[in-house]
Amino acid sequence: MRAEDNVKMTRTGPDTPGGNWMRRYWQPVALTEELDGPRPVVTTTVLGEDLVLFRNPDGSLGLIERRCPHRGADLALGRLEDGGLRCYFHGWLFDRGGGCLETPAEPDGSTLPSKVRLRAYPARECNGIVWGYLGPGEPPTLPSLDCFLAPEEYTFAFKGYLDCNWLQALEVGIDPVHASYLHRFEEDDDPEESYGKQFRGVSLGTELPMTKILREYGRPEILNARTDYGQRIVALRRIDGEGYDGSLTHVRITHQVFPHGITIPLSSTMAITQWHVPVNDYSCYWYAMFTSLDQPVDRAKMREQRLDGITLPDYKPVRNRANNYLFDPEEQRTSTYTGLGADINVHDQMAVEGQGYIHDRTRERLCRSDRAIITYRRMLLAAIDAVADGRSPELLLSDTADVESRGPIPLDGIGPTGEWEAYWAESIDALRVASPWAQDSEAARATGPAGVPGSVPEPDDELFGGGSG
Ligand code: FES
Ligand SMILES: [Fe+2]
Repeated sequence: MRAEDNVKMTRTGPDTPGGNWMRRYWQPVALTEELDGPRPVVTTTVLGEDLVLFRNPDGSLGLIERRCPHRGADLALGRLEDGGLRCYFHGWLFDRGGGCLETPAEPDGSTLPSKVRLRAYPARECNGIVWGYLGPGEPPTLPSLDCFLAPEEYTFAFKGYLDCNWLQALEVGIDPVHASYLHRFEEDDDPEESYGKQFRGVSLGTELPMTKILREYGRPEILNARTDYGQRIVALRRIDGEGYDGSLTHVRITHQVFPHGITIPLSSTMAITQWHVPVNDYSCYWYAMFTSLDQPVDRAKMREQRLDGITLPDYKPVRNRANNYLFDPEEQRTSTYTGLGADINVHDQMAVEGQGYIHDRTRERLCRSDRAIITYRRMLLAAIDAVADGRSPELLLSDTADVESRGPIPLDGIGPTGEWEAYWAESIDALRVASPWAQDSEAARATGPAGVPGSVPEPDDELFGGGSG
């Protein structure tokens, strides 16, 4: 990778090419739960911009810059009153649109308020996440992904902090091989105990624990295809170990969703859609929306499981760089690949923070298993260039909820070898027919023109220069 391309992809502050591109999309800026409590005001830094998010008594949201335009006081500690946020220093009052309503120390009749503005952005809520639009012009609608279409009780949202650039956080999510190594457990859990945990249940249509499949089949065949939302990634593990004849194949289908999201299976009926939002160029948050097809989500349980590993109010991991992730060499020798406990988020965290604050991609040696990462970078650079040229990034999903859900539908299951596409289509169909909220969305069983079975995988020659990678 050329150094200038690495810079272009990883810098997202105001007036950078990458920042201009990313600002064309809604960004998660907070969890709805952060606004619970008697004073619904939180700070949030997104794409290098320090902002304050607040909720008025009428329920409306304000997302405004954090420094008071008078003499720079911190509006995060302002007074939530009189239809907006009032600066504690000299009493200037700002509404959610960034307008100044009062400058009380100025003479009666002063026209100063009409001349003062602060930056304010549109904000909206969907299924536990507050979204902000930091870009120019009218914001697009939210895309018609399952996680946005599902009734709220079938979803659960959470977030976590990563001490590195956003692109590292995204790239681990489109790397299907690492699950066989980084997330390896030497022993399988009781699947009954797996609710809400990644890689701990059984694969769809089998009693085989996912941990056993990942552990014993560490060299999957990987296919990736561009789609209208980003990319579909298929990892195939032919089950031909002791006691099996190879007639079955483990199929794991995940997706990259533009700009910086992924959709992966948590269990056979629950998907995770996760975005990787820059705080600045050196840190980011992942925001995840868990979407269940079959039953309302046990949110209290999901939340409790995740609160164990973080500290509030900023959702920073208990295991981190400063304490060497509480690494346990004896555990690494005997039971896990990393020695970092059972929480796979911690494994991913160590992997991506270990690459440094901004990974130097000029020094990588990419290989075949990185094919989805290679494709993503090409799509990303093209999208950044499109915005720089004044065009719209092609992958700007807009809301077509009336006609189609773009899923995208992940899958973790076992089907007949050589027939993953038919198996995927049938499994999706069966899961959606059985779903109380997704069964009526007829077209929702497809995932858009390039995402349907039969679409063309990215050719090896293109990615690896003649297939020699
Ligand atoms: S600094 Fe905010 S009102 Fe003076
Ligand atoms: Fe991972």
